[in-house]
Amino acid sequence: MAPVSETLLSAQNLTKRFGGLAAVNDVSVDLWRGHIHGVIGPNGAGKSTLTNLLSGDIAPTSGRVTLGGHDVTGWKPEKISRGGLGRSYQKTNIFLPFTVWENVRLAAQSRTPHPAAWLRRATDFKESNERANEAIELAGLQNRKNAIAGTISHGEQRQLEIAMTLATNPNVLLLDEPLAGMGTVEAERMVQLLLRIKPLHAIMLVEHDMDAVFALADRLTVMVNGQVIASGTPAEVRADANVQSAYLGEEH
Ligand SMILES: Nc1ncnc2c1ncn2[C@@H]1O[C@H](COP(=O)(O)OP(=O)(O)OP(=O)(O)O)[C@@H](O)[C@H]1O
Ligand SMILES: [Mg+2]
Repeated sequence: MAPVSETLLSAQNLTKRFGGLAAVNDVSVDLWRGHIHGVIGPNGAGKSTLTNLLSGDIAPTSGRVTLGGHDVTGWKPEKISRGGLGRSYQKTNIFLPFTVWENVRLAAQSRTPHPAAWLRRATDFKESNERANEAIELAGLQNRKNAIAGTISHGEQRQLEIAMTLATNPNVLLLDEPLAGMGTVEAERMVQLLLRIKPLHAIMLVEHDMDAVFALADRLTVMVNGQVIASGTPAEVRADANVQSAYLGEEH
């Protein structure tokens, strides 16, 4: 019998208006454990805004987000993060003067119950060290642990961001263009990394790299001007006439 898919995050009819502009317009999406959900669309389509709505970085004008069955609409990002949602940003968000290890350990520590160091128990330190080590290994950075983050390659910096996200122990991962600016070798390494972490997580992957997204995604949502113009399996989306004329046929 096929395993029943577990919906970890569900967004229903999300709309975000900035003044007169509906940057996200009535968008619904379900993220399942073990699946990668690709979100594609031209510049300005609303992909990052959708990510920000799911992570709580911005509140929707209307619509609802549930995480693990709880309505988290309007929750602060820190609270949503503690509920099991991790995200990476389109622009990198790492502390360049710190080492790879320090960056990941700080991210892991943000998950311990008491933010003040003097309140923490020794076991909290041990747990966050272990989580940091696991995340670094999953991200394929075990040989770069002591390197200063500002000196590693662009591809490794993007791997580091994934490691920092993983260190917060998320079930749901929102990744905004993790392959941006990468060469072929770096992109392939990131594809392999995403495949490694896919089985245990529900992943939303916003990406312009069509080869990667069509290779990785189990389902795709195509956005144009804030609206979903198509959604389905990669094969269904590829065959969709609206998608071909509105997006895939043109260079972005
Ligand atoms: N804080 C904001 N205030 C006003 N308008 C915004 C804001 N954030 C985004 N927008 C607008 O909303 C629209 C969608 O932007 P968004 O960044 O979500 O697009 P995107 O699909 O992520 O594009 P890209 O592929 O270039 O990253 C754009 O027209 C953008 O200018
Ligand atoms: Mg964007």
